[in-house]
Amino acid sequence: RSWLSPDVDECEVGVCEGVCVNTMGSYSCRCEGRQGLRLAEDQRSCEEVPVCVQLYDYKHSEMLYLGEQFTGGPVIYLRFRLPENTKFAAEFDFRTFDPEGVVLYAESSQDSWFMLGLRGGRIEVQFKTQHSMKVTSGGKAINNGQWHVISVDELESSISVKISKEAVMSINSPESLLLPQNDHKNNDSITVKQPSYNQPPDDIDVTPVQINARLDGCIRGWNLMNQGASGVKEVIQEKKSKHCFLHVERGTYFTGAGLAHFNVDYRESGSWRVDLKMRIRPSSSTGVLFALVLNDTVPLSVAVVTQGPDEADLQVFLDGVSVATLQSLMLCYPDRLSVELTVTPTSLEIVANTSTWSYSLPDGALDRLNNTMMTHSVRTCIGGLPDEVPVSATPVTAYYHGCMDINVNARLLDFDEADTKHNSIKSHSCPPVSPPQDTL
Ligand SMILES: *[C@@H]1O[C@H](CO)[C@@H](O)[C@H](O)[C@H]1NC(C)=O
Ligand SMILES: *[C@@H]1O[C@H](CO)[C@@H](O)[C@H](O)[C@H]1NC(C)=O
Ligand SMILES: *[C@@H]1O[C@H](CO)[C@@H](O)[C@H](O)[C@H]1NC(C)=O
Ligand SMILES: *[C@@H]1O[C@H](CO)[C@@H](O)[C@H](O)[C@H]1NC(C)=O
Repeated sequence: RSWLSPDVDECEVGVCEGVCVNTMGSYSCRCEGRQGLRLAEDQRSCEEVPVCVQLYDYKHSEMLYLGEQFTGGPVIYLRFRLPENTKFAAEFDFRTFDPEGVVLYAESSQDSWFMLGLRGGRIEVQFKTQHSMKVTSGGKAINNGQWHVISVDELESSISVKISKEAVMSINSPESLLLPQNDHKNNDSITVKQPSYNQPPDDIDVTPVQINARLDGCIRGWNLMNQGASGVKEVIQEKKSKHCFLHVERGTYFTGAGLAHFNVDYRESGSWRVDLKMRIRPSSSTGVLFALVLNDTVPLSVAVVTQGPDEADLQVFLDGVSVATLQSLMLCYPDRLSVELTVTPTSLEIVANTSTWSYSLPDGALDRLNNTMMTHSVRTCIGGLPDEVPVSATPVTAYYHGCMDINVNARLLDFDEADTKHNSIKSHSCPPVSPPQDTL
């Protein structure tokens, strides 16, 4: 029997450590705030949601995670004061599964900057000098999760980009990338104003070709402007959120600390349809995978729900009432479980391999959802519920902790393109359950 069932007859303040909820006349005590709590066996005190699949989620203090900041400033901001006629130079190891984003951005003045990024997994270089602007891409796709040595060198009249010491690009550039600034006439040094990482400044739209700057990637072994790792190490080491996981695999990782919002239109030719295809590997046994939210209500949600030690099931809720349950030994299991959910005005169906499912869809349960979907724009929330939704709105409100890939109405969600995304969500990388055999 689920701890979610309202089998506590009364839960007065003081008896229930969590929130006392009245669902259709019967009371239940609920614990889940967003901090990953659940009701203990005594039905009144709260305890932490157990971890059901332990991850190999060690971090390395000399690997800089580039995806930390979703909005705001650069991940790292460094300034160099360099002798005149210094050439631009950078070398580092780089690892990502992300196809698009900015790896490095440097500028020496308003009209002189350099950007190294990825598009379609291949290296793209954009730069502007006083009189020209260039966009070039080349080489093979490198977003395969392996480490690659990347080097960029400004030569006499060209810029050379190498991957693993092999030249992949040579771009003509008659002018120097790093110009001494005019207002430093009497100054015999150049201030490279901003070799900043991953987050170009607000005027990125001067970039000739738009790029989705957000990048879930990792850098180690720096040598910038031939200064070695100076400046970089200190910045990385001071903050754990800037460290990368030692090993990663494909997928989107939710740490259980936040959610992402997407704008999805479910209406089609006078009706609507919600079509989810998910591959999930929960690490904690309770958490919201997917939810449609309208103000402080949750018309539809799908969540992992604890059933026992190392045991969980998947439940679908309509306005907080569980209407379908899927049981699978593949939840809380190192492999990923594929689940498909289709909801239309007249049907709700959930399918997954090696599992059993049961429905308890009351008559008319879908009418209300139909009405909501036909008359409002709902918000699509992945990995949790927004703060304005009270704990009483639906039995599971805890953030999801684990790995997930999700297709919504035939669109694979790229979390770099989310309307908002919590900083803790890694859009293209998940820590594995165990380290790979050929370690590093
Ligand atoms: C060079 O210019 C910078 C920025 O204006 C200034 O802080 C610095 O003192 C100048 N150095 C010399 C040697 O004039
Ligand atoms: C949602 O909130 C808005 C603004 O507060 C309100 O106008 C609207 O009626 C609400 N919708 C529902 C379905 O409660
Ligand atoms: C179930 O397994 C079959 C064969 O392995 C596969 O073709 C199908 O896509 C799977 N279905 C789901 C929902 O994972
Ligand atoms: C869904 O709602 C629309 C508009 O309110 C209505 O026309 C339609 O008949 C409803 N569908 C069902 C299956 O109830």
